[in-house]
Amino acid sequence: MSIEVLHRSREEFLAALTAAGTDPEGIEAVRVRFAGRRSGLLRDLEETLKGLPREEKPAYGKALNELKRLVEETLGAAAEAASRAKASTGLDVTLPGRRPLVGSLHPVTLVRREIESIFLRMGYSVADGPEIEDDWHNFEALNIPPDHPARDAQDTFYLPSGMVLRTHTSPVQVHTMESQRPPIRVLIPGRVYRRDSDLRHSPMFHQVECLVVDEGITFGHLKGTLEAFLHGLFDPSLAVRFRPSFFPFTEPSAEVDITCVLCRGAGCAMCSGSGWIEILGSGMVDPRVFAACGIDPKRYTGFAFGLGLDRVAVLKYRLPDLRLLFGGDERFLRQFGMGVPA
Ligand code: DAH
Repeated sequence: MSIEVLHRSREEFLAALTAAGTDPEGIEAVRVRFAGRRSGLLRDLEETLKGLPREEKPAYGKALNELKRLVEETLGAAAEAASRAKASTGLDVTLPGRRPLVGSLHPVTLVRREIESIFLRMGYSVADGPEIEDDWHNFEALNIPPDHPARDAQDTFYLPSGMVLRTHTSPVQVHTMESQRPPIRVLIPGRVYRRDSDLRHSPMFHQVECLVVDEGITFGHLKGTLEAFLHGLFDPSLAVRFRPSFFPFTEPSAEVDITCVLCRGAGCAMCSGSGWIEILGSGMVDPRVFAACGIDPKRYTGFAFGLGLDRVAVLKYRLPDLRLLFGGDERFLRQFGMGVPA
């Protein structure tokens, strides 16, 4: 008779546990109902054991122990299955969110984009050219013959094939004039290479070249363009100064200075006390360059200029060392984020 109660309890327990499925709260309710320490069914059944006649005790006790073991083991298995089911949904809404890693733009990229946007607004197109050049494009067509001293000023990396790593972006002027007819208004950013490495020089650095060719282009156009450009890039209150200079591919040529962005002209270490900072080289395209590129120098005139992007980044972001730009240090690079929207 009492053994039957045990059998019934067993059936009830299994039915209740099946009904709970993998719901952790349902499983816990089943545990409390059957195995709860204070009022669980197993406890009641133990009380019944105490009151049984002596001869019934062994069989009942044995069956009760089996039932206890079954309850314990199946509850454990059900709880485990429940936690596995929860894990497999992959969703725990109580976990803190994961922040996606956001990259940042390199300061040279920021400067390049800013310069491009200034010139795109003025109707220029942006072009590029090869970093491995032949002698013709890097030197000869730019009016730099083989024995010209200007070649020494640009310590060149020569490749075994006789080609060179371009020492400046000016050869893309030649490519442009070989493939396009005037009017030409083009901006050419890119990497250039020289055998130079110290505090202020890196063997690879960046330049931007500008070329304008049309009928009636004058030095006045060059001046106006450069003022608009430098005021847009730095600050409209800075003075722009032209100094006569020499480049083989321009005539006349001028180097251009701006008021020192650090001391605003008072004189500091950055400008060696002069109050001015040299920022670019420029001039009117030399007729010999036009002739080399098949453009009629009697009909067309033009201007060109070139500047170092890395130097602009150093000035704009007040960098103490140019090499920061090429070290790949994330702590440095992270600070630039996505830049200031233009
Ligand atoms: N190519 C020159 C250099 O690397 C910079 C330069 C000067 C470019 C005058 C020009 C220019 O287009 O007109 O030093």
